[in-house]
Amino acid sequence: MKKIKLLIIFGGQSGEHTVSVLSAQSVCGALNREKYDIRALGVSEQGRWYLDVWPEEWLTGDNSPGPAGKEAVLRLGTGVAGFLPLSEKDAAAFYRPDVVFPVLHGPGGEDGTVQGLLTLAGLPFVGCGILGAALGMDKDRMKAVFREAGLPVGPYITVAAARRREEALLGKIEKDLGYPCFVKPANMGSSVGVTRAANRATLIKGLELAAVYDRKIIVEQGIIGREIEIAILDGEVPRVSVPGEIIPAKDFYDYEAKYIATDSRLIIPAPLPAPTAAKLADYGLRAFAAVAAKGLARVDFFVAADGRVYVNEINTMPGFTGISMYPKLWAATGVPYAALLDRLIELALAESERE
Ligand SMILES: Nc1ncnc2c1ncn2[C@@H]1O[C@H](COP(=O)(O)OP(=O)(O)O)[C@@H](O)[C@H]1O
Ligand SMILES: [Mg+2]
Repeated sequence: MKKIKLLIIFGGQSGEHTVSVLSAQSVCGALNREKYDIRALGVSEQGRWYLDVWPEEWLTGDNSPGPAGKEAVLRLGTGVAGFLPLSEKDAAAFYRPDVVFPVLHGPGGEDGTVQGLLTLAGLPFVGCGILGAALGMDKDRMKAVFREAGLPVGPYITVAAARRREEALLGKIEKDLGYPCFVKPANMGSSVGVTRAANRATLIKGLELAAVYDRKIIVEQGIIGREIEIAILDGEVPRVSVPGEIIPAKDFYDYEAKYIATDSRLIIPAPLPAPTAAKLADYGLRAFAAVAAKGLARVDFFVAADGRVYVNEINTMPGFTGISMYPKLWAATGVPYAALLDRLIELALAESERE
């Protein structure tokens, strides 16, 4: 059988660069080499695109092209789009993958930008299209769409970063949301730039930090509840995994608790009463449809002690590292890691055939 030419894109300029490198390393390690002819394209933190650099080479934070990596250009055009190393004049070096897996997290990768580029190039790719990716990245628009779909979303206020120092704004946050509240850049992930504010001083600090990442900030009421996540895998009809629970090693699931402290724990499946689990599955599928997601997504919830459920967010390119929730949830639901990757790639190819 002819091998499928698969391109993995990883890295990127977002605050989640490192997470993407780790995710891509796991993905490359698990893919069946009998089935795929794999090449990798690394996007450095400086925003340069190198063909044939591997995630392992960037694990140390070094973003150099490595021994084989070559800066490449993307040629556009119907039926002829593909990559060409800048240094090669030889047309034989031109590379057109059958399918692309953008293992990118955060802005400039998970937000519709790369999806737009690949759409324009006519290259099939894994995951959400432009709209789903964009809506899934912007927490303010995501929540608006969730509300419109009748999904339960906790109280929040959207703030233009330029107005973050206004007294009236601080007063409104204190009156409408109170403490603790969570301050986040609207477009980010992996808890980068997220602060739990317990008083005015930390609120001000949190707003300053979020403003480093985005011109739009959201402030949410702190919800006391368990953190439960479910995974969705597309198909004829999208399927839902068993739920998983996060027990953060710190007071909330911040960047350190996610990737550095090893004592954060995942409980899979999460012990939940059957009606609550059914509610999560229903909300998860509705959230997936609401943002026009495709391929895959992880939907994250808070479940309060009284059984009330809040949708926190959807992630359209969830973490794929060895310790990540998304692949672990599918493994516990009967879809092992390598089969999950096969399925995602099949979906991308099937969709492009339909088109
Ligand atoms: N409204 C909230 N109430 C309680 N905890 C929250 C709230 N918002 C965020 N958190 C905590 O902060 C973490 C990161 O926030 P989240 O919105 O999931 O951002 P990211 O997209 O960076 O993962 C969550 O996993 C949770 O631990
Ligand atoms: Mg999150």
